[in-house]
Amino acid sequence: MASSAQMAAAAGAATRALSEFCSDVVMGLSHPGQKELPSKYLYDALGSALFDAICLLPEYGLSRAGMRLLERHACEIVERVPGPVVVAELGSGNGQKTRYLLEALARRQRVNYYPIDISGSALFRCQQELGQMEMVSLVGFESAYLDGLHKVAARRREGERLLVLFLGSTIGNFDRSAGDQFLCDVRAILREGDSLLLATDLEKPVPMLKLAYDDPPGVTAAFNKNILARINMELGGEFDLGQFEHVVRYDEIERRIEMHLRSKAWQSVAIRKAGFRLYLREGETIWTESSHKYDPQEVKRMGGRAGFDSAGQWIDIEWPFAQTLFLAI
Ligand code: AVI
Repeated sequence: MASSAQMAAAAGAATRALSEFCSDVVMGLSHPGQKELPSKYLYDALGSALFDAICLLPEYGLSRAGMRLLERHACEIVERVPGPVVVAELGSGNGQKTRYLLEALARRQRVNYYPIDISGSALFRCQQELGQMEMVSLVGFESAYLDGLHKVAARRREGERLLVLFLGSTIGNFDRSAGDQFLCDVRAILREGDSLLLATDLEKPVPMLKLAYDDPPGVTAAFNKNILARINMELGGEFDLGQFEHVVRYDEIERRIEMHLRSKAWQSVAIRKAGFRLYLREGETIWTESSHKYDPQEVKRMGGRAGFDSAGQWIDIEWPFAQTLFLAI
């Protein structure tokens, strides 16, 4: 049972998270020119369940491609990772992809595996999927990626190396410069000889991409609109979801898919707890997510700029997607 101090700390964290959500929403919706909402707020409990459903869609090949690569090449990848290692995963996902790597590693050593996720429910699912593996002990960290990585790095013993997994291709949801910075921040926590396995979605024909983010059954549309439902529920927003349309664009110059919510009419919407009122013209959009697509060499260069050498790259042909292994130099 949780102590009263733990309960007070959890309540304090929840209040801080709500006030950060509120200020991010107001800031994004007051943005001059293009209004926006940070994509991290797409993932409440319903949003995460909708994302899991997206991963099952035949049109959305990303997660299956990442999984295929690890199913086929986990042993080869692990052979190139200097050991013994402890494993930190940024974003625990549902653990399925990670199983292939942990199984391959467990053939050579006992593995301490530390999934790091801001969401307690994601960690719980990961614990259920991977908590019973032989030769693997799992300790989850409910925290932001870099904070969690600092904690894991501090736990390693003399002579142990760190293998960091970033398998969700979430780096694509950062702007390219923020993605570069993130890799530099990860590298700064690592030591020479540590490694990073990075998943990235690759460029592919635009119609294929558009269908992946605007699927006929409308699952991605529901995922996108759920951010408004979340604002209604948590911040006293008065969005009428029927007044918005899910729109997907491909920016050829930035090489990214963009998700927007387009207002079907002139409207004004109150967000009561924020003391804020939003005005939207007919056709005006709120930008909710970017998903950048990469060239395989570009991924290696990104790693190089952050202080890594590429130790191998595996590419899925069916759905162009890369797993790149980097060694910290
Ligand atoms: C989590 N991330 C890698 C997904 C992507 O493809 O960028 C999020 C997503 N958005 C719509 N569909 C999936």
